[in-house]
Amino acid sequence: MSRRLLGMSLGFALLGVVLNSAAADVDVGKAKVQQVCSECHEAADWKGQSEADVRAKIASVVAGKAKHPKKLQLTDAEMADVAAYWVSVAK
Ligand code: HEC
Repeated sequence: MSRRLLGMSLGFALLGVVLNSAAADVDVGKAKVQQVCSECHEAADWKGQSEADVRAKIASVVAGKAKHPKKLQLTDAEMADVAAYWVSVAK
C-alpha cells in the first residue's frame, strides 16, 4: 500500500470513530418530537427522569414491550436524540 493510501485509510478510520461516538443531537430529537410525539406528549412528562431512563423507556415502547397507543419506529440514534431533547427541556 502506498503511503498516501495508508494515510487516507487511517483518516477514514479515525473519522468513523468520531462519527460513531457522536453525542446525541438535541436539535434532531426536537424535530422528531415535534413531528411524531408532541401531539400526545409534553416535556413535563419526563420531569425528574434521567436521560438513560427516558431512553430505556422509549426503547421498550419501540420494542413493543411497554404499553403505548401507537407503535413507534425510531432508530437507536433517534431514541438517543429524543431522550436528550426531552431531558434538556423537562426541567
Ligand atoms: C397518539 C398519542 C401518542 C403519541 C403520538 C406518542 N405517545 Fe407516547 N404515550 C402515549 C400515552 C397515552 C402513554 C401512556 C401509556 C400508558 O401508560 O397507558 C405514552 C407513554 C409513553 C412512554 C412511557 C412508557 C413507560 O414505560 O412509562 C414513552 C417512553 C413514550 N410514550 C414515548 C413516545 C415517543 C418517543 C413518541 C414519539 C416518537 C410518542 N411516545 C408518541 C401517547 C402517545
